[in-house]
Amino acid sequence: MKVVITRRIFRELVEDLGSRYEVVHNEEDRPWPPGELAERMQGASGAMATVMDRFDEALLERCPDLRVISNIAVGYNNVDVPACTRRGIRVTNTPGVLDDTTADLTWALLMAAARRIAEADAYVRRGDWKVAFGVQYFLGQDIHHATIGIVGMGRIGQAVARRARGFDMRVLYNNRKRLASADEERLGARYVEREELLAQSDFVVVMAPYSPATHHLIGASEIAAMKPTAILVNSARGGVVDDAALVEALRQGRIAGAGLDVFEGEPRLASGYLDLPNVVLTPHIGSASRATRVVMCNTAAANMSAVLEGRDPPNPVN
Ligand code: DGY
Repeated sequence: MKVVITRRIFRELVEDLGSRYEVVHNEEDRPWPPGELAERMQGASGAMATVMDRFDEALLERCPDLRVISNIAVGYNNVDVPACTRRGIRVTNTPGVLDDTTADLTWALLMAAARRIAEADAYVRRGDWKVAFGVQYFLGQDIHHATIGIVGMGRIGQAVARRARGFDMRVLYNNRKRLASADEERLGARYVEREELLAQSDFVVVMAPYSPATHHLIGASEIAAMKPTAILVNSARGGVVDDAALVEALRQGRIAGAGLDVFEGEPRLASGYLDLPNVVLTPHIGSASRATRVVMCNTAAANMSAVLEGRDPPNPVN
């Protein structure tokens, strides 16, 4: 059976898969445009894919042998899941294994934005640091004892909340579904309506997956409802935050800053981000620790193999 791995992964895993399947591996790691992806997929029964690979009707139409799309990601908004279901193609993802790593990165962004780490680093590197100490150098914001508001309290949102306790923070959250009171107690988190969360939080952290329902969940009016001193963090998905509205708000100083790992239309950035000193930008690296990326790839391979061998995959999406 032929399987396609759409981006470069770890050699040991490719070798292992190669002992069981005919493997096409994108060793070059250049993202394949849709036409090329379709070509490479000819005759393939399985795909290990990333969020960059769009599996839509047009592509599926050209993959009659395909039985499983195994995303190396927890998110799967790159795949037309209903279309796959209609064609009997299983879709799988890698939930659970990246929660802590993504929560760590979320905190890195929050802290970097609050304490102006990127700005200060650039200042030192430019050679502008001429006087050893200044009482007003890079004044930032306190994290400890502040209020964090988490929009989207799934597994990663909860991992973010657990870390907030170490900073003695007040934790607010909003979610489609309220958590059980035992979970709220364990996390020390209070459910509030979105409006209240936006108005009260010093740090608003977006942890909702992307779907048509969450498109621009945080837009101009939500940003306007935040404190002028607030910092917005998004390590969930591009499109959940309206980038153009955020650039405008940051430009006008309507909020204090932002820490962003994901963007609409990434890797292109909304015009204006690069000129703003009060935004920390990272290139979609939320789950990018070596250990976690190895586990994600192994999990995706196990999901794909299960389907190809006629078993139920451990992490089915459909
Ligand atoms: C995920 O797991 O969804 C991350 O965004 C990596 O794609």
